[in-house]
Amino acid sequence: MDIHPTAVATCEAEIAMPITIAFDVYGTLIDTQGVIAVLEDLIGERAAEFSRTWRDKQLEYSFRRGLMAAYADFGVCTRQALEYTCLYYQTPFTSDQKRGLLDSYSSLPAFDDVKTGLSQLQGAGISLYAFSNGARRAVEVLLANAGIRDCFDGIVSCDDVRSFKPNPAVYAHFLKESGATREAAWLVSSNPFDVIGAISAGWRAAWLQRSGSAVFDPWDIEPTLTVASLGDLAAKLLTPAH
Ligand code: LAC
Repeated sequence: MDIHPTAVATCEAEIAMPITIAFDVYGTLIDTQGVIAVLEDLIGERAAEFSRTWRDKQLEYSFRRGLMAAYADFGVCTRQALEYTCLYYQTPFTSDQKRGLLDSYSSLPAFDDVKTGLSQLQGAGISLYAFSNGARRAVEVLLANAGIRDCFDGIVSCDDVRSFKPNPAVYAHFLKESGATREAAWLVSSNPFDVIGAISAGWRAAWLQRSGSAVFDPWDIEPTLTVASLGDLAAKLLTPAH
C-alpha cells in the first residue's frame, strides 16, 4: 500500500514527537464476522450475509440515534439490529438462540495481525488506547477474551458522552481522557466513517484496509495513511524512510 507523500513527511516529523494511538475496536481489532461460526449452525450458508446485515444495521442504528439525540448503549444497537436482521431474513430464532448470538458478540476473536502489531507499537513506547462506541465494560470483556487487554494503556468509551462516532464530541472526549494533544493523536480504524471523523476533528488517521475490496468513502478527505495490517502500520510509523 502506498503512502501519500504528505503522509511520509508527517511520519518523519512524528519520530521526534511522542504519539498516542486510538484503535477502533469492532471491525478493526476484533473480527465482528466471528459470529458467522455460530450463525452457520443455525442458518447454514446464509450466515455470512446475515452477519453483514446485522453489523451494517448496528452501525446505522448508532448513526440514527446520534442524529436523533436518542442515545442508547451500543449493546442496545447490537440487540435491536439482531431483531431487525431476524425479521428481514425471516429467521425466527428462539430467545435462547438470540442470547447465544449476543453472547458470542462478547467473545469475538482478534484479527490475526493484531497481537504482534500491537506488541511492536507498544515496544516502541507508543501510548495505545482502545477507543470504541462500546460501553467500557463490554470493551473490557471483549479485549480480555481476545487476549489483548494488556496491550492498552486504557479504554476510552463513547458511552461516557452518550453519543457515537463520528460525532466530534467523542474525538474531543478521547483527547481529554488520554491527555493526548490533537497533534499527537492518531486514529487507526477499518471504518472509513471513523477515519473521516477523526481527520475532521484535526487528528491524523490510518485506514486499515482489511479487505482489498473495501472502499473508502469519496468525500475528498483522504486517510493520512492506508495500511493493510497492524504490522504494516508499525512498519510505516516506526521506519518512516520506507
Ligand atoms: C467501534 C465501532 C465503530 O468499536 O467499530 O467504535
